[in-house]
Amino acid sequence: MSEQFDVVVVGGGPGGYVCAIRAAQLGLKVACVEKRGALGGTCLNVGCIPSKALLHASHMYEAAAHHVGDLGVEVAGVTLNLPKMMAHKDKVVTDNTGGIEFLFKKNKVTYVKGAGRITAPGAIEVTGEQPQTLTTKNIVIATGSDVTPLPGVQIDEESIVSSTGALKLASVPKTLIVIGAGVIGLELGSVWRRLGAEVTVVEFLDYILPPMDGEVRKQAQRTLSKQGLNFLLGHKVTGAAKTNEGVALTVEPAAGGDAQTLTADVVLVAIGRRPYTEGLGLESVGLSTNARGFIEVDHDYQTKAQGVFAIGDVIGGQMLAHKAEEEGVAVAELIAGQSGHVNYGAIPSVVYTSPEIAMVGKTEEQLKAEGVAYKVGKFPFTANGRARANADTEGFVKVLADAKTDRVLGCHIIGPQAGDLLQEVVVAMEFGASSEDVARSSHAHPQLGEAIKEAMLAVDKRPLHI
Ligand code: FAD
Ligand code: NAI
Repeated sequence: MSEQFDVVVVGGGPGGYVCAIRAAQLGLKVACVEKRGALGGTCLNVGCIPSKALLHASHMYEAAAHHVGDLGVEVAGVTLNLPKMMAHKDKVVTDNTGGIEFLFKKNKVTYVKGAGRITAPGAIEVTGEQPQTLTTKNIVIATGSDVTPLPGVQIDEESIVSSTGALKLASVPKTLIVIGAGVIGLELGSVWRRLGAEVTVVEFLDYILPPMDGEVRKQAQRTLSKQGLNFLLGHKVTGAAKTNEGVALTVEPAAGGDAQTLTADVVLVAIGRRPYTEGLGLESVGLSTNARGFIEVDHDYQTKAQGVFAIGDVIGGQMLAHKAEEEGVAVAELIAGQSGHVNYGAIPSVVYTSPEIAMVGKTEEQLKAEGVAYKVGKFPFTANGRARANADTEGFVKVLADAKTDRVLGCHIIGPQAGDLLQEVVVAMEFGASSEDVARSSHAHPQLGEAIKEAMLAVDKRPLHI
């Protein structure tokens, strides 16, 4: 007789592992099935964490080579030790994924290594390292997402890479073409540009970073171009051929027109991610995916099959680790009979370029389209004392508030440590704060966060330092 669980989570990424821990905290008997041989999912293994390790290390390299001299710190003979940088990244990954195993033990979550397949309501067959059949009252699907392929451009993870290959190139390519000016394209494009590659980003749309506020997008393009990223906007890649020198890409104007050939040592395909449900056995409980491959759920993350829930990238929405984590907590609480809930209006989104780009809530374009009357407050980092002291003044804070109620509806930052700075606005929005509430909160001096206070004051046209 196999062990009976209250919850079996399929997938050990940020959605799945957090769900497992929260469910165990609530006294449920929980197992988490993961097939990649390590916990942490895309995020810890081939996503958020390794990319941030390389972003930080490459930023330090560029600063040492080109920028700290401006502050009177003269460093001679800066050289790149790429294997050591990669070893740092790899160690961060294994330390973090090992940390999740420790958390599982601490919370008494059973970690089952192998691929999980739903075979009947409440039954999961595991193949691989620890083959067995698990029986459970509830199943939570958290199988995440995978790279969206581009027809005609075959990824080999050597000269034509996805983000996974771009995180472990053995040498710095002389030339790199990135397909897609989204988050991955700009983050990993920045890494390799800083390390010495000539990077060209080909984007289908006429602008970069589609979901961001228009003003921020424009500023981001200006800043990243100044740093040396080349952009070919309004173009699509229609084919790739491997040559002795590298890769030849066929590129056409998105609106139609003559094709041209671009060549590069390495090509990074970064045109989005798609839900991953391969081999999951959805059909055994009468489930299928929708036209875009996502599993559909109701407000309580319940699929159409009784006792089968789904969370994270596989259900769509913002494909972000912290969004998956919030859903993991919510579904665990709902299964335990509590009232889990996620406020999708206050999920932050951060692009870890330099400067960082961060947003929460509505963009100005969205408010216009929805016919919402709003006020704007803006403040540039050039007028912030700490940013000047740090010689890091690129960018601005932009706040959008309801014209009648003054409630904060959105905040958009491009600038130093934008991601961390944004967090106070996320909390403010979670509590339904007005711009006046934030503007009247004392902000320590000299801090970059004073730019947030000033932008909030600017909503009422009374900034103090500009
Ligand atoms: P995943 O993390 O994809 O985890 C799903 C897990 O399920 C995987 O480990 C998979 O092996 C496992 N699995 C699948 N099927 C089965 C099965 N049948 N049996 C057993 N196991 C299975 N997000 C951020 O918020 N911030 C960032 O900075 C950030 N950076 C990123 C950088 C890159 C390069 C990439 C690719 C993504 C990044 N993301 C970032 C997105 C983030 O990684 C995802 O949104 C997040 O990992 C989604 O979590 P998840 O739990 O839904 O799925
Ligand atoms: P993305 O959706 O952010 O950007 C894809 C870009 O490719 C878009 O600008 C799109 O217009 C463009 N595109 C699509 N098809 C194209 C084509 N045929 N030719 C040229 N351009 C094309 O996707 P990306 O960058 O792959 O990232 C996937 C997801 O991973 C993100 O949406 C995000 O959810 C997550 N992520 C989050 C990070 C963060 O939070 N810092 C970092 C990296 C990834």
